[in-house]
Amino acid sequence: MYKSLIRPLLFQFPAEKAHHIAARLMKIGLSIPGVKSFLGVSKLNYHPQLEKELFGIKFPNPVGLAAGFDKDAKMFKSLGKLGFGFVEIGTLTPLAQPGNPKPRLFRLKEDNALINRMGFNNEGVDAAVMRLKKRNPGLIIGGNIGKNKVTANERATEDYIKCFQKLHPYVDYFVVNVSSPNTPNLRELQEKEPLTNLLNSLIKLNQQENRPKPILLKIAPDLSTGMINDIVEIMLETKLDGLIVNNTTIDRSGLKTSEDKLKEIGAGGLSGKPLRLKSTELIAEIKRKSNKAFPIIGVGGIHSAQDAIEKLDAGADLIQLYTGFIYEGPKLISDINKAILNR
Ligand code: FNR
Repeated sequence: MYKSLIRPLLFQFPAEKAHHIAARLMKIGLSIPGVKSFLGVSKLNYHPQLEKELFGIKFPNPVGLAAGFDKDAKMFKSLGKLGFGFVEIGTLTPLAQPGNPKPRLFRLKEDNALINRMGFNNEGVDAAVMRLKKRNPGLIIGGNIGKNKVTANERATEDYIKCFQKLHPYVDYFVVNVSSPNTPNLRELQEKEPLTNLLNSLIKLNQQENRPKPILLKIAPDLSTGMINDIVEIMLETKLDGLIVNNTTIDRSGLKTSEDKLKEIGAGGLSGKPLRLKSTELIAEIKRKSNKAFPIIGVGGIHSAQDAIEKLDAGADLIQLYTGFIYEGPKLISDINKAILNR
């Protein structure tokens, strides 16, 4: 029903506008009896055999919502009702910031993909904390943290620390995002020295907390072999809890969308189907190089149950959706969970 009725309606609107309409529809619609089954949401999402314990957290099922969809923690209640096992809010920055000028989110329909250059638009960590204080028990929530655009890389650690400390009581795990292509120079923080320093600062603070929370790192798909090796080494040295593989790509190769259209859209991170294989291969490479030493959340181009199984077979312990959720709707969550149960 999503693909035949709701998606055509939403796709009439520019992509960012459609996102806000969908958020409102979810809020209103999901309180109406029968709407969930109309959308293809299944009770099987909470089958005991889907439960998975990882870094001390019991996930009701392995299918999560990737960061960037619920940046300001406004939708997690609705999203939980659709069957996600966990929702990652953010990326949050210490101060509210508007992000890049609009338009900044584009559909590539021929490719089942999106290009975005949102630029960490968010209302700031304090606003999210206010909303998280009213979070419903049962849903696992991750906090994805970043730095403000105006903060120089040399002072980035201070921004991550501010977000970390404020969110600590209210989220179940953290994600350190150094991999968005839309904040100038952010990805330089993936280099060995700054990354080790940033992670060690957060780990040290975490150890001082009464209840330390798992900390994960989210990486870009566009890394050289040298950088991939460095990341594995850093993960092993710092004993970080896990890795999210991966963020959007700046690569535009192999797309059906015309060169002219791509030129017109301009800069940004590409997500969706064209990212699938690259992300699966990166998961497999890191799993092999690390000798399965840490858990991986696999994300990138999951548009079907088969795509999800491919990620799990490559070594992902959990998976996340973003673009596939936009194109396929909430039934994708149930389809994946059913396929896992039938394995
Ligand atoms: C994202 N993504 C993202 N990731 C992140 O860590 N912080 C963020 O704020 C955002 N924002 C964001 C906005 C939009 C519009 C999109 C499409 C994506 C990246 C996202 O979490 C995911 O890693 C990639 O999109 C790859 O997964 P899919 O979309 O191919 O399933």
